[in-house]
Amino acid sequence: MSLTLKPRTQVRAKISSVGSYVPPRLLTNADLEKMVETNDQWIVERTGIRERHLVDKGVATSDLAVEAAKVCLEKRGISPSEVEVIIVATVTPDMLFPATACLVQNKLGCPGAWGFDLSAACSGFPYALQVGAKLVESGVHKKVLVIGADVMSSIIDYTDRTTCIIFGDGAGAVLLEPCEEGEVGLIDFWHEIDGSGGASLNMPGGGSLNPATAETVANKMHYVHQDGQAVYKFAVRKMAEASETVLSRNGLQGSELSCFIPHQANKRIILSTAERLGMPEDRVVINIDRFGNTTAGTIPLAMQTALDEGRLKKGDLVLLASVGAGFTVGATLLRWEF
Ligand code: UT7
Repeated sequence: MSLTLKPRTQVRAKISSVGSYVPPRLLTNADLEKMVETNDQWIVERTGIRERHLVDKGVATSDLAVEAAKVCLEKRGISPSEVEVIIVATVTPDMLFPATACLVQNKLGCPGAWGFDLSAACSGFPYALQVGAKLVESGVHKKVLVIGADVMSSIIDYTDRTTCIIFGDGAGAVLLEPCEEGEVGLIDFWHEIDGSGGASLNMPGGGSLNPATAETVANKMHYVHQDGQAVYKFAVRKMAEASETVLSRNGLQGSELSCFIPHQANKRIILSTAERLGMPEDRVVINIDRFGNTTAGTIPLAMQTALDEGRLKKGDLVLLASVGAGFTVGATLLRWEF
């Protein structure tokens, strides 16, 4: 029997819908003033954050992911049963296994779909976006759901003022589909990891190196540990470098972009990157004041903010950028197609 392979035509991938979800409960800077030695002025000046949303007990990452995915699919007018692949970027899976993608598949109702979780911290969403796009571009899949979701409150020490003021809970989802004739969709990306930064931002307990014991709990090893200044210095440099790399190899200047949608870790990191790229502030999407740092959730949540504010329209040239634990670095260039 001879094997005949059909030649595949070049397919491009595009984002065809966005949805997001944050839990209703708010943790404001005034609330934090009552919990740790901090104040609203310090938090706003150093981070840009005013409030964040937190889950109630019993609500997990898959719950936020499902809500964001429902909105995303409803807006596109398709049923969950049409989804072929689910990729969930997260560092706070409901549990180590099964993958949160499996829990989402079941709760959302996507029979026949396959999927997996992707762990790249704050760069998780753009990394998952590229993996999903390649599944579309290969011609194998036509409907890939990419979700960035984190319940950071599940791994934050609310007696540590250096971390508890930063993080929030939230999720965003996008649908990836093949471009129609004349559309461009995802154009290019630059990703880089630097494992030498692992010690600067991590959660040391609960994995195979330090499995959970009474001692790991007593030593607070199941919480986020961060050397804020080391991460800050790396993020300021690398977010700009990655962005410049992807722009320059496509013959573009920052001033030619319609919209810059960066990871929301610190308003100062975002503004410094935008300034280096020569991007006017009114083209930079910032919602960290309302949501804090939701790790894998920030970029799709910021896409939703841009849509809500009428700042994204078909044909816009958009840059995404991220730096996160690992270190992980990413920059994505795309044309908005809806
Ligand atoms: O998305 C994941 C990637 N993460 C990031 O990108 C985070 C990057 N880092 C940052 O955003 C910043 O480093 C922080 C927001 C975490 C900290 O801001 P900073 O301007 O770098 O502050 P710092 O760590 O240099 O601390 C300055 C001072 C210290 O006091 P002394 O030693 O000068 O007396 C801290 O103890 O501020 C103190 N401090 C606080 N004061 C009031 C630290 N946290 C707080 C706080 N409230 N919550």
